Amino acid sequence: MTGLTSHAADIRDAKRVQDVVQETNPEWVVLAAAYTDVDGCEGNPDLAFAVNRDGAVNVAVAAKKVGARLVFLSSDYVFDGKKTTPYEIEDARNPQSVYGRTKAEAEIRLLALMPECCIARTSWLFGIGGKCFPDTILKLAASRPALDVVNDQRGCPTYSVDLARAIVRLCRKDASGIVHVTNAGDCTWFEFARDIISGAGLATVVRPVSSQQMARPAPRPSYSVLSATRLRALGIEMPSWRDSLRRYLEERPKPIR
Ligand SMILES: NC(=O)c1ccc[n+]([C@@H]2O[C@H](COP(=O)([O-])OP(=O)(O)OC[C@H]3O[C@@H](n4cnc5c(N)ncnc54)[C@H](OP(=O)(O)O)[C@@H]3O)[C@@H](O)[C@H]2O)c1
Repeated sequence: MTGLTSHAADIRDAKRVQDVVQETNPEWVVLAAAYTDVDGCEGNPDLAFAVNRDGAVNVAVAAKKVGARLVFLSSDYVFDGKKTTPYEIEDARNPQSVYGRTKAEAEIRLLALMPECCIARTSWLFGIGGKCFPDTILKLAASRPALDVVNDQRGCPTYSVDLARAIVRLCRKDASGIVHVTNAGDCTWFEFARDIISGAGLATVVRPVSSQQMARPAPRPSYSVLSATRLRALGIEMPSWRDSLRRYLEERPKPIR
């Protein structure tokens, strides 16, 4: 397995991407690279489309040239959030943000270019070693007696370790088409924050607020729970987000006191 970073290739550079993919000569390419700052994308759509849509096409073209298969990481933000039951893979895309549009357009282009590619839509990622919601909540909780967290957006937190394991299994199963890959169960950001605080044994008070009270540049879907029907049909079960949060809290390096 070869892990490539942005230093190996900027995915906007088609030639460089082709060289790197050719040198690596993989059986599968997993494209996780993206411009993921959802609010940043809103103010910088040209960069967002150049990386998330056109960059993805560059990677797909390069993969196709060497006969490699592709897993593309997409997002729950391709949906508008108006449903109240889990989104199925057949549900229509209707992104509300620039970031969501870049991912939706990338999905369409990749499926046209490489119908056998696998589009793995995930959501609310957290993991060790990077900026993520649990890490931010724990850092804020260390210095504040109370935190306000939005309680009107519902989704599926997903531990990067579980996502990575599922992607490996998707490759081994030769999966193609759209698959939703998230931890099982759903919650609001407020409920997630409350469990993070209690799981870490902290006493910080978490208060529910509305998205309107915490206005941000990019709109977020109020409901973006992704159905695991297709994933289960492929024989893959994901752990619950509560179980994953427990493991994350155990595995996370503890601050030195
Ligand atoms: N985070 C979520 O909640 C979430 C939800 C749904 C889907 N996803 C998708 O899952 C994937 C991983 O998300 P993440 O949150 O783990 O992402 P992340 O931490 O923001 O990492 C994105 C990576 O992409 C690289 N990158 C950015 N622009 C690039 C470019 N032009 N060329 C090459 N590499 C570039 C970055 O490199 P540098 O650090 O060097 O800039 C970084 O290593 C993304 O495709 C994202 O859209 C994420």
